[in-house]
Amino acid sequence: MKIVHSPHMMTAWSLRLRREGVTVGFVPTMGALHDGHRALIRAARLRCDALVVSIFVNPTQFGPAEDLTQYPRPLANDRRLCREEGVDLCFEPSVAAMYPEGFQTTIAVPAIARRWEGEVRPHHFAGVATVVTKLFGMVRPDIALFGQKDYQQAALIRRLVQDLNMGVEIIVYPTVREKDGLAMSSRNVYLSPEQRAIAATLYKSLRAGAEVVRKGTTDVQAIQSAMATTIEQTSILTVDYLAVCDPLSLDPLSSVVSRAVLLGAVRLGSVRLIDNLVVVAPRTRMEQRVGRRHSPARPASS
Ligand code: PAF
Repeated sequence: MKIVHSPHMMTAWSLRLRREGVTVGFVPTMGALHDGHRALIRAARLRCDALVVSIFVNPTQFGPAEDLTQYPRPLANDRRLCREEGVDLCFEPSVAAMYPEGFQTTIAVPAIARRWEGEVRPHHFAGVATVVTKLFGMVRPDIALFGQKDYQQAALIRRLVQDLNMGVEIIVYPTVREKDGLAMSSRNVYLSPEQRAIAATLYKSLRAGAEVVRKGTTDVQAIQSAMATTIEQTSILTVDYLAVCDPLSLDPLSSVVSRAVLLGAVRLGSVRLIDNLVVVAPRTRMEQRVGRRHSPARPASS
């Protein structure tokens, strides 16, 4: 596996391969890789000829009171995981290379960034949009993979790529969970054993909301109340938000008549957990099944 620090060398490597017809896949990360990243990397490996993983803890997406300095940086382990998964190039730019003296451009995706995580972390998504734009400019991938765990981030990146005609295919990979349902995250290492024991309550609360939808309820208040009741069963969780939203715009819905995403964020002491579930109203689910039954069989390849 090649390790590259220089943005210029990164771009030269990628452009040379692409000129030869090689498909370049990209998984951007902040390191502290876990099995969720491993699954993303494996999924990417199957979809491209040459695979790049970036490891860059991006300072511009952290707020002043957030965990930038404590953020885990187990670089040797991260490189080992990348080697095990057949990554061709690990891109590890420095902060100075990413944000040289005089840097001043910021990318904003205001509507998607406004709510939920954006309310709690006001500069976060501008930092994400800017660094992803820069990384795409340096890596020049054909495809890039992001985890569904950060649903709002994935929605924002899809919008950004479409709005700026970046020509990168975005693939959002399902959340990888621990046995009890807790979504894997690099920040789970911050949880104490007591906090870890109840951390999956957020997922349980989303499941409770999804169950209400499955039973045919369209009323958002009923869905939210099922989610909140599950959280209230544990006294040490504080809710930042439990929301029922349009899956693309992330605007709050007043009823669930087709598809929706349930978004949740809670605090366990100083640790924040976020998670989400996409739900489909029973009627839409049935229509989709009927539609599939009546549509002509697809050819084996197109
Ligand atoms: O999801 C992450 O790890 C980061 O937000 C990303 C996309 C690598 C940008 O720094």
